[in-house]
Amino acid sequence: MSSVVIVGTQWGDEGKGKITDFLAEKSDVITRYQGGNNAGHTVKIADKEYKLHLIPSGIFYPDKMCVLGNGMVIDLEALISELDYLEENGVTVKNLIISDRAHLIMPYHKVLDELDEERRDQEKIGTTKKGIGPCYMDKAARKGIRVCDLLEPEILKKKIENSLKEKNQLLDRVYDSKAFDPDKMVADITRYAERIKPFIGDSSYYINTALENGEKLLFEGAQGTLLDLDHGTYPFVTSSNPVAGGVCIGAGIGPTNITNVLGVLKAYSTRVGDGPFPSELKDDIGDKIREAGGEFGTTTGRPRRIGWLDLVIARYAKRVSGLDQIALTLLDVLSGFEKLKLCVAYKYKGETLKEFPASLEVLSKCEPVLEELPGWEEDITGIESYDDLPTNAKNYLKRIEEICSVPISVISVGPGRDQTKIIKDIF
Ligand code: IMP
Repeated sequence: MSSVVIVGTQWGDEGKGKITDFLAEKSDVITRYQGGNNAGHTVKIADKEYKLHLIPSGIFYPDKMCVLGNGMVIDLEALISELDYLEENGVTVKNLIISDRAHLIMPYHKVLDELDEERRDQEKIGTTKKGIGPCYMDKAARKGIRVCDLLEPEILKKKIENSLKEKNQLLDRVYDSKAFDPDKMVADITRYAERIKPFIGDSSYYINTALENGEKLLFEGAQGTLLDLDHGTYPFVTSSNPVAGGVCIGAGIGPTNITNVLGVLKAYSTRVGDGPFPSELKDDIGDKIREAGGEFGTTTGRPRRIGWLDLVIARYAKRVSGLDQIALTLLDVLSGFEKLKLCVAYKYKGETLKEFPASLEVLSKCEPVLEELPGWEEDITGIESYDDLPTNAKNYLKRIEEICSVPISVISVGPGRDQTKIIKDIF
């Protein structure tokens, strides 16, 4: 039995899609366990770029199974357009299972997400407005509509009508916004259901059977540690649990079945949306990294905020997910800087903080404690292996390993599949 969890160790956008795509080749089943189409990643295969939001990048391998786990929230319209997009590009989607227990993002969730953000005024979360938060709210409030409901038209109809009784009142009275027509919504969702039906299944049963059969499983986390509802920079978080523990709930496996947790760490920090960011660079260096790294949201197109690599956060990610190994991505983006800096602690009111604080009040007043390292000039995008890296790049990696006490097993030096270099085996 072998099962690897891939988690983002920062604020998302660490390049998990690329690492997943790379490891998918060695695995049999690839599962997403939380979030929805708020995620987004670009996979480059033979000079062609694909943008995915919901479906694991394992879909590009027709002999692998891809699973949307029960912990996900699924926007049927977005899913269907992703399926169409893949099929139009000659990618087969027969190898997909959608959990019958996953929740559906309904049209009113998207509208409520937007209206709630507007109402927050100065206190905006900066959500992707995909309806993620409102959908998980209904799940927790036990008012959600699930994928299995798509298989029972009468129940689906009743649930939509019941839900709209409440949501239309909320839209009208609280937000002064337009109501939804229940008949139209039932007709639309029923139509979508027809397209989705062939993919619906008991994904936890499938995954556990695959485990029993000795297959290799890969679990692909979306977002990142600091966007985790419990462990992230609350309230500037998403509404699910991207940390490794989220796999057990969101895919329906026991914790003893996880054999390896791989944390994806970008060679610098980025953040989308609002909230404190101690190692943020608001200068030319930040702009240069943003341009070189193409740091603009896949889902929203927003420019990402940039900062030095924050190892207080990386160590925190190690703690809350139990990282066994690190995959370090976008190392090539750091070529051409005379000096590089690592954030190794925070200064708060004259004290040195080594652990990531819970309070955003505290975090917003933290100054980064920076350790300077010499950079490297060489273009590293064409290296054959770790050994070809310039000494200063190796020293940069070594320092990260020392401070985090986690080995770096994979490095990525460009978007192509052949630009991912394995230092130590993952499976
Ligand atoms: P939501 O997930 O749309 O509710 O957004 C909540 C927060 O998570 C916002 O700050 C988003 O920008 C952030 N977020 C959600 N998904 C991603 C992602 O895939 N990458 C980076 N940030 C994300």
